[in-house]
Formats: sequence, structure tokens, C-alpha cells
Amino acid sequence: MSHIATASAQNFEQELPYYEPVGNECALFEQAYQQRLPLLLKGPTGCGKTRFVSHMAAKLGRPLFTVSCHDDLTAADLTGRYLLQGGETRWVDGPLTRAVREGGICYLDEVVEARKDVTVVLHPLTDDRRLLPLERTGELLEAPDDFMLVVSYNPGYQHILKSLKPSTRQRFVAMSFDFPPPKVECEIVARESGLAYDRCAALVNLAASLRAMKGQDLEEGVSTRLLVYCATLINAGMPILDAACATLVEPLSDDQDVQQGLMEAIRATFG
Ligand SMILES: Nc1ncnc2c1ncn2[C@@H]1O[C@H](COP(=O)(O)OP(=O)(O)O)[C@@H](O)[C@H]1O
Ligand SMILES: [Mg+2]
Repeated sequence: MSHIATASAQNFEQELPYYEPVGNECALFEQAYQQRLPLLLKGPTGCGKTRFVSHMAAKLGRPLFTVSCHDDLTAADLTGRYLLQGGETRWVDGPLTRAVREGGICYLDEVVEARKDVTVVLHPLTDDRRLLPLERTGELLEAPDDFMLVVSYNPGYQHILKSLKPSTRQRFVAMSFDFPPPKVECEIVARESGLAYDRCAALVNLAASLRAMKGQDLEEGVSTRLLVYCATLINAGMPILDAACATLVEPLSDDQDVQQGLMEAIRATFG
């Protein structure tokens, strides 16, 4: 019996999405979950927020409902709606409602993009009542202990019209994400791409000088995700300069001068 249990535990381990911790974020997530507190993740694009949430959901054994928010997203997209199915109208739960009913983690990515009425749904869920009122069905759902709400946004390209109101953000336990420190980032890039650690270290070094160029011309520094792309292409046999141009220059800027500046920094390292 016991070895069967071990085997399934190992299988479960294997299915955990790979996540390399940077600080105390895993412990903080787990505490927030246990204390039934909602969590807000801030940080630039491609620094590991989504991977972190899927890792933690698997670790806690909860189903994950991820929603990428956009400016057309309404409360009904989250809660659900009546749909015509085979001549009958039937209520279909949205991802937020499913997470509440099934006791799962609902992750709203780029939450600042969503329409204003979305916050109306989130407010009663993020105070100690933990309620989800479904006006259309007349239900008032009480979130079970294993429900958790996680939201994220990128403060980098936040503008005045699109930011979280204090009355909303002060309902969350919050943590900041950033690009991992060099050693951790090498580990991640090597593991994700299959490229040898030393060659990844050279890319991570390069990333530091490219990130230093962030400023008026460059909105965001090169992400860990793009470094993984670059290493993946190099590992597949692409010449380094071609791979770097396609992953560390073109996705970052359309401006020729900025592109040239980035390319120069890359040639200085690899040329
Ligand atoms: N700490 C980390 N552990 C493992 N992989 C990471 C980590 N940080 C970044 N990554 C890699 O970077 C990619 C982008 O991360 P992602 O979570 O999608 O970023 P975000 O959601 O912050 O935009 C992931 O697919 C993964 O390959
Ligand atoms: Mg993401």
C-alpha cells in the first residue's frame, strides 16, 4: 500500500509546473490561502507571475481558473450568463463562479484592464463575507475555505485611467515581482531552454546591460520569458546574433535607433 501512495505522490510532484523561488513568495502565498486572504501580484511582464500561480495551485491541489483581462471583459464574463442551448436557455457559470463553487483559485491576469463593473463583483468576495451574489440567478454564493482570488497587474504601463483604485487594492495582500537575481535567472533559462548553464549565464549578463537601457525610449526591459526564447533558439542551432535579434531586439522596440542601440550591446557581448 505505502509504496503505491509514494508513487502517486511522486507523480503529483512531477506534474508541478516548474517554478524557481526568488524569496518568500511561496510561503506568503500559502499563508494567504490558509488565512483566506486575496492576493495581488505586481510586476513587469514575463517575470514569472503566471508560472508562480500555476505552481502554487498545483502544490495546494486546487483547480486553477485563469482569466486574461481585457478592456471588453465584463462582470458577466466572470460570473456567468444564460445561454441558448438546444432550444433551452441554461445558466452557465463563468470562471469566477466555478472557482467559488468548486473551491479553486481564480487568477485574474492584468486585472486593471477589466471594465469597472468587475470590481463590483470582486468587492464582496474580498472582504470577510467572501460572498458572490449572482443577480441573474438570484443566488448568493458563500466562498468555501479553499477558494482563493489572485489578481495581477503590471505597474510599468499603468496610466491614470487604468490603475486600481485604493478602495480595491487595499483589499489584497500584495507582493512585488521583478526579474530574478542573475543566478536564479540562469537556473531558470537553462532549465526552460535546455541550453548549457554557462551559455545561459552569458545571456543573463547581456540582459543586465539591455535592462540598463530602459528609459524614455524603451518602455520595458527584456523579460525572463524572452531570455528563455533566445536560449531555446540558440539551443536549436540558430546563430546567436540572429536569435538575439529576433528575441531581444524586435519584440522590445519598433524604433530603429533603439534597435540599433540594443544590437550594439549584443554585438559587444557576442560579436
Ligand atoms: N521563477 C521562475 N521559475 C520558473 N520559470 C520562470 C520563472 N520566472 C520566469 N520564468 C519563465 O518565464 C516565462 C514567463 O513567465 P510568466 O509567468 O508567464 O510571466 P508573467 O506572468 O509575469 O508575464 C515562463 O514561461 C518561464 O519559462
Ligand atoms: Mg502572465
